[in-house]
Order: sequence, then structure tokens, then C-alpha cells
Amino acid sequence: MAGVDFTCNGTAVTVRADHPHLLAALREELDVTSPKDGCSPSGQCGCCTVLIDGKAVVSCQQSMAKVAGKAVVTLEGLPDDERQRYADAFAACGGLQCGFCIPGIIVRAKAQVDKKGTDLTREDMARHLGAHLCRCTGYVKILDAIEAVATGKQVAVTAPGGVGSRGIKYEAVELALGDRGYVDDLRVPGMLHAAFRLTDHARATVNHIDVETARQASGVVAVFTAADVPGELRVGLIHKDWPVLIPEGGRTSYAGDVLAVVVAETRQQARDAAELVAVDYDVLRPLTDARAAIDDPEIAVWGTDGNVLSVSEYQRGDVDAALAASAHTVHEVFRTQRIEHAFLEPESTLAVPSDDGRHLHVYSGGQGVWDDRNDIARVLDVPNDTVTVELVSNGGAFGGKEDMANQAQTALAAWLLQRPVKCTLSREESLLIHPKRHPIEMEYWAGCDADGKLTALKVRAVGDSGSYASVGMKVLERMAGHASGPYHLPTIDVRSVAVRTNNPACGAFRSFGANQAQFAMEGVIDRLAEAVGISGWEMRARNVITPGAEWGPGQIMDDGCLGAARCLEVVRPDYEAARAAGKAVGLGLGLKNSGLGNGFKEIARAVVRFEADGAVEVRHCWTEMGQGVHTVALQVAVEELQLDPSRVRVIVDTTRELGAGQTTGSRGTLMGAGAVKAACEAARAGGCEVGVDYEGEYRVDWTHHLGEPGVEHPTIHSTFGYATQLVVVDRATGKIERVLAAHDVGRAVNPQLCEGQIEGSVHMGLGYALTEDFPADPVTAVPTNMTLRSLGILRPKDVPPIDVILVESPQPDSPYGIKGVGEIGLVPTAGAVAAALHDLDGEWRATLPMRRTAADGAE
Ligand code: FES
Ligand code: FES
Repeated sequence: MAGVDFTCNGTAVTVRADHPHLLAALREELDVTSPKDGCSPSGQCGCCTVLIDGKAVVSCQQSMAKVAGKAVVTLEGLPDDERQRYADAFAACGGLQCGFCIPGIIVRAKAQVDKKGTDLTREDMARHLGAHLCRCTGYVKILDAIEAVATGKQVAVTAPGGVGSRGIKYEAVELALGDRGYVDDLRVPGMLHAAFRLTDHARATVNHIDVETARQASGVVAVFTAADVPGELRVGLIHKDWPVLIPEGGRTSYAGDVLAVVVAETRQQARDAAELVAVDYDVLRPLTDARAAIDDPEIAVWGTDGNVLSVSEYQRGDVDAALAASAHTVHEVFRTQRIEHAFLEPESTLAVPSDDGRHLHVYSGGQGVWDDRNDIARVLDVPNDTVTVELVSNGGAFGGKEDMANQAQTALAAWLLQRPVKCTLSREESLLIHPKRHPIEMEYWAGCDADGKLTALKVRAVGDSGSYASVGMKVLERMAGHASGPYHLPTIDVRSVAVRTNNPACGAFRSFGANQAQFAMEGVIDRLAEAVGISGWEMRARNVITPGAEWGPGQIMDDGCLGAARCLEVVRPDYEAARAAGKAVGLGLGLKNSGLGNGFKEIARAVVRFEADGAVEVRHCWTEMGQGVHTVALQVAVEELQLDPSRVRVIVDTTRELGAGQTTGSRGTLMGAGAVKAACEAARAGGCEVGVDYEGEYRVDWTHHLGEPGVEHPTIHSTFGYATQLVVVDRATGKIERVLAAHDVGRAVNPQLCEGQIEGSVHMGLGYALTEDFPADPVTAVPTNMTLRSLGILRPKDVPPIDVILVESPQPDSPYGIKGVGEIGLVPTAGAVAAALHDLDGEWRATLPMRRTAADGAE
């Protein structure tokens, strides 16, 4: 086969002509990995942007024929001082979180800065970033960084000090340049590539899987099906109901089911051969309506015995009598949509057997490597200690990497072949396989007295949990717990049901049921405020929980809840000013627990170790996915041990049983800080000797279950974060012109990173409110928005200015008063947008998305 000649970073190269696009040639043959693959070959994320003859282009859209004779430059090929300038600006401005999108954005920025220099405006750059997606940052600090480079502004690249100090994110420079590898950037000698054959039907009996043609295809080494699984077929975080492969005679339950794993010499060969696997099915009627599925005689999910996954409920007082006696009542049905996490890094796993064939090392970007290890061992039918799952910091997750996506199948292939195997999902596979945010239908009845004091709340909710359980029952439980928002209700009656269907599986997603509930509750508050004749702000102020108040499920709130009223108070001047200026305004007030709670025993451990070279290792096992858990660990160590930050080495140690479970719900920040603090205390007590592992533990084992019998005031959660968001709309244009986000984080470990989390959450929350959707066909249950572009994520030019106010109202008994910020981020956003739009045109909205963009105001 003739090769293709071009120059790459100034060096003449010849590559194979059969690569599907330039990106594959760069990454797979030349091992140039700063261009990342977020969506190839669709050209919709911008992560793979390179310069071709000086022009910024997405390399996954460049055929090899088009590249011949051209000059290709990637971030690796820029002069060192220029690389450093961009990396410093992104690090200093906090312009990155998971970092996956950043190398591509820097290449785009370079092209524009080269062209326009100091004339490059922020608006211009925002427009050019339309070719890129960032799911983490909300673009605010990305634009700050590009502006700093364009204007030659000096930036201070300062490591953070102790708790509460600003400073750059751990590994920020390496992340910005694309030098800190993700799983797909790892290379091992002799490595093979795996690809999946997914089902064609969401619900069908699989009669026969014919792998012979695929087996004969070029480069194919092996094809595996369920018949090759030596151990258990099913895995799962709570219920073991999720088959890693559907066998002949088995039944598919959603469009992401895997039928065969093809292993080949190259990724493209594996993917091409996977299409050659022929399957004979009996196609069955998929169950796609959650409410109807409750009573449907057919079972949606193969191997289960009913379609009701869970019921969560609690009551206090006589709600019906209180509603009847209320001066004002409201009754409304709210509906939220299914949405996709759209983390920029598709799931990737590399599994490597040991030389003696007795051990398997799995590199994973998942959120719970211990759960992954245990399930992989069950599938392989080996003891747990035969498998090590090493955590590799990932390119975004937001809850979507809690369940295994391809870890078990990749491990299976590597174990059976006794060769290293990597499997990286395509964007389409990623969209089909991992669980989404639940669509929930919520019927609310609420009442208040003539002064606007809430009297009663009744809620009936049905959530479409899709096929496999994942943590769907916990999401609906959290939705039920947070149903009343941060308000005191003297009477309450809540019931939420999670239902299995054949739609995409639903599970964890930032805010975990709390944002669905509080979109509804905030809508109720605004409708009642109008009935009473008081402002939305006043209605909230009259009902917000205070210490000693009984919160929804009966928990007596402690001083930590003072933050709710404080968030409300700090936005008041802006709220009043916007109203006085004739703007349409909307408020949202929300709360979200941190950690798991609900009676779950949570234990986290960390290790501090002084090394002979002067370094101080901080070992934990949380997933760094952009949220900054490594930086938190570093800052706690600096605070407790009074160290120079350059001495601290943060290590994700998943080789020993530090436990901790899933990195979810701001647990990494809260519990990680607690565990590192305890380890530092142990080190101090032990004299900080070199070579000694000082272990610390943080434990929350005193919460109660929702509706726990015999407990009048259950402590459902140890910690909550609070937030108020103000949305201001221009009446003339209908545009959202500003979002003010006041967040009580208890204690901001690093204010700059904290602001970035909030800006990114608001961006995600605006998309949730206005444009994002991941529907499935009501007849086939197959998702219909199968590209990143079609998901409705807001582009940079559509994001209004976001101002952040950090409120620090400490949580009693938590380390440093920390409450966490990642989860609460977008809880109030949709309610605030709905209220502002109602103020604009008088229409109440009860369904998401509201189908307009923030920028153009068009319905
Ligand atoms: S990987 Fe090329 S644009 Fe997404
Ligand atoms: S930093 Fe942009 S996608 Fe994570």
C-alpha cells in the first residue's frame, strides 16, 4: 500500500494511506496525542484541531488524500516559549478542568491570535470557539486565558497554598498542552484493539450470532461472545442486572447492549469487522412509556421480574386537610427530559495481563475503580486480587462514568488472549451505552396561607429509569428527598417511582434527581408568590429553612442551612436593581446534599508519606475528572503540614484498599479533604518520619434511610450545599443578559477552581433549561440525537455573562466547613430561567427544555 507524505511538526513523515482521517494517523501511527478524539469522524467537538498550512482545522475531517504534501502542526510542534505562554495563561486563569478540550482550543486560539493579535475581541473568539465544545468550564475562564495571551497580559502561575487560597490546578500546565495522558493516550507493546457489535434492536430475542465472517476479516485476532465468559454474565452497581454480553437465547433490553467483542491489530480493523457480525433476532415490542410500563404485563428488562425498580416515599401530617384549608393552592405537572452527560472523552479501557499470565492490570477512567475491579473479577471468575484497576484521570464524567461501559469486555478479551487490549468507544457507542439523566414526570400540589407561608406539599413522580438499574433507584430517592427544596413544609406527602423501560438506561448525573425536583418546586413557589401578590424573592425569604426547621423528609436542619438565606440575601440588591431597571427576572433557590447519606456507610481513607527526596506523597483513590480533587488533596496537605506546595506529590493509589467507593456527589472534595486531613494529623503525631505510611480516615456512618421506620427526625444527609441564581432577561430582545450565581460552598478550598465549577454548572444548567435533549424514538426506543451537535449544548457565543458570588457559611463538623460545589451547581438554574421567562411574557412553563437559546430569545 502506498503511503501518504506530509510534514508533521516540521518533520517529513510517511504514513499508511488506510487511516480513516488525519487524526487517526497522528494518534495511532505517529503517536502524536495532543489532538484528542472526542467525536471522530463527525468533526463536532474541536478536540482534534490542528494547523494545516497555518489554518486551524479539525483533523478528524481531513482525509489522508487531502493531507498529502501539507504541513501539519500540532501543539507538540509549537515553539517552547509559545507553548508555555498558552499553558501559563490557561493555568493561571483557571481555563481548564478535565483538560480534554483544551489542546484543540489552544490551537484554534493560536490561529486567531496570530491573525488578529491585540485586535482579537472576546466576542470574536467566542464565535470562533463555536467549532469547539467544553462541557466543564462554561467558557468564561477559557476566554479569559485567550484574552490574556492576545493582549500580552502578564499572568501569575502560582501554586495554591493552604485551604482557601487561589492558585493553579494540579497538573494544569500538562493538561493544557495535552501532555497528561488519558487512557486512550496509553500505548503498550503488542497492544490489540477491541470494538463492539451492538444490538440493532432495543428489545429482541437473540437467536443466533454469526461471527465467522468477522473472524476472517483482515487483522482480526479473535471474536468473543457471551459463550466465552467464564464467570458471571451480569454486573451492576447495586443490582447485578446488566449483562456484559447478550448470549444466544438471551434478550436485549436497550440499544446499548453488546453482542460481540471483536479484537484486531488496529482499531479500524476491529471496528470494520464488528460490522460483519451477523445477528438473527426475534424483534419484540419495546416498552417506551414509563407510566404505561408500570402495569404492562410484559417485562421490559431481560432477567428481571418487574418493571417497577423502586418506590421512595414519606409523609408528615395531613396534607389533604392542609391543602383544603390553604388560602392559595397550586396544582401543576412538571416534566423534565432525558439528557446526555457529553463528557468530551469517550470511555476507554486498557487491560494488560502480567507476564506470568496470573494477573490483570486494567487502566480505567471510571468513577469507582473498586466496584469495577470486583465486577471484572466476577466476570472472569477469578479472585479480586487477580485484578488491579488503576485509575487514570479522565476527560470529564459528571456521573456518567460510574457504571462500567467497556471495562469488563476489554478485561475479558485481554484475559482470554493473554495480550494487552485497548477498547475506546466511538462517540455513538458512548451515547448508546452509558446511563443518562432521568426524565421525570412530577405532579405537584402545594398550598400556602394568605401571607405566603407554605402549608402543604404533595408530590407524585414517575421517573423513566430506562433498562438496567444502575443507580436509578437512588436518583428517584434523592428526587423524593429534595422534592420540597430548601423550604420548611409543615405537612408533606411524597412518592416517587423509578420504572424500567427499554429506553436508554438512566443513572447518575450531576445533581442526581435534585434538579428535576427543584425545577418543579421553584415553579410552585413562583406560582404561589403570584397568587399571594408578593415577589419571588419575598416568597422564598418567608419560607427558607433555618436552623432547627424540619426539612422535607423530617431532618432537623443544623447551622449549615444558614447558607440558604445568605445566598438569597446576597443576590437581593441585584434582583431589586434589575427589576427597577425594567428587566424580566427570575430566581432559583436550591439545595443539594454532598456525599451519599440515606443510611449509607461512607468511609474514605488517605495516606501521607514523607520520601527521602523531600517529596511528600498524598495518596488517595478518588477520580480526578476535572473537579479538582487532586488540588484539594494538595491544599489540605499544605495547610496541615505547612509545606511548600512544590513538595507535594498527589498519587491516585488504587493498588491498596483505600476504599471510598464512587467519586460522586462532591464526595471526593468533602471526604477526601477529611481523609487527607486525618492522615496529616497522624503524620504530625508520628513525627513525619520518612518512609512511613500515615493513614487517615473520614467516616460518615450515622445517616438514616428515607422514611426509616421509628425515626421521627431522620438525618438523611450530613452536608448540603445551597445556591441562589438570578437570571436577568432583556425585555426588548428576549435575551438572557446575565446570570448571577451565589453559592454557599461552606468553605472554598480554592476560590478560583470553585468559581470555575459554578460557571460550568450554569452553562450546563442553561442548556438543561433551554435546549438540551436526548430523546428516544417512542416506537423503537432507539435514541434519535446521535451526534454531539444535536444534543443542544449551548455554544460559547450563546452563553451570557455569568457572575459568581461565593458564600462561605460553614457546615458544622465537616472538615474546614466544606460543603462541596460540584453537585449544587445547576440545581437552581432551570427554575430561575422559567421564572424570568414568565416575567417576560406571562407564560408559565412546566416542561424542559423550554426550547429557545439564551442568546436569541427565539422560541
Ligand atoms: S474528534 Fe474531531 S472534532 Fe471531535
Ligand atoms: S475542560 Fe473542557 S471539556 Fe473538560
